[in-house]
Amino acid sequence: MMTTAIIPAAGTGSRSGLSQPKQFMKFGGRELIVWTLERFQNCDEITDIVLATSKESIGFLGELADKYGITKISGIVEGGAQRQDSVYRALSSLPSSYEGLIAVHDAARPLIPPDVLSAGIRFAAEKGSALFALKAKDTLIQKGPSGIGYLNRDNVYQVQTPQIFRYKELKDSFELAYKTGFYGTDESMLMQNAGYSFEIFEGSVFSFKVTGPDDVELFRLLSSAD
Ligand code: CTP
Ligand code: MG
Repeated sequence: MMTTAIIPAAGTGSRSGLSQPKQFMKFGGRELIVWTLERFQNCDEITDIVLATSKESIGFLGELADKYGITKISGIVEGGAQRQDSVYRALSSLPSSYEGLIAVHDAARPLIPPDVLSAGIRFAAEKGSALFALKAKDTLIQKGPSGIGYLNRDNVYQVQTPQIFRYKELKDSFELAYKTGFYGTDESMLMQNAGYSFEIFEGSVFSFKVTGPDDVELFRLLSSAD
């Protein structure tokens, strides 16, 4: 089945403590976004890649793609104010007759293991969706007005990306969200809001999102060992 990756890379990385957007900082000799793109370029189940980035970075991203042989890029669009807007712009650049799957993946998750990515896409091709998520391992507590409560960790997941859905359902979910002014922190929230169900697929601890200074340090360590 056709599977298009949408990779939003238009953020500023305000929590990273870095002086530039994290996706363009070099780790182990190449830009963070290149690490992410290589995982998708080398994944047989991925047909093409659409990127969203800031207007001033579109040319640079094209240069990186040429330099590192990322030939699957079929479009680079200008991102929006929120991650959701960036993903929507990329989604809107596809023909409305598109019949495949969309795999939305944060540019800032550079270390998704290739076998996990491939297995998740095959799972989505069979089931219609795959929300990559990590099952909780630690004891989980919740602070409330009357003290600490314990959550049943068997039912708790940390959501990651990629989030893979059928194009038509995802597009419909985005359209409903914009019609009603709904903003979610990820695509699964939009799907849920539109009444669509989806399947969870076990992700990987290596697919952490480079977010704060500790994640930056962790990625620095892992990328220098590569
Ligand atoms: N993103 C995007 N467009 C935005 C905001 C975020 O394309 N308007 C992308 C980021 O580039 C990143 C992904 O969405 O690849 C996940 O977002 P996050 O980790 O929050 O990155 P930033 O928004 O850049 O970081 P911060 O929230 O710390 O500013
Ligand atoms: Mg952000």
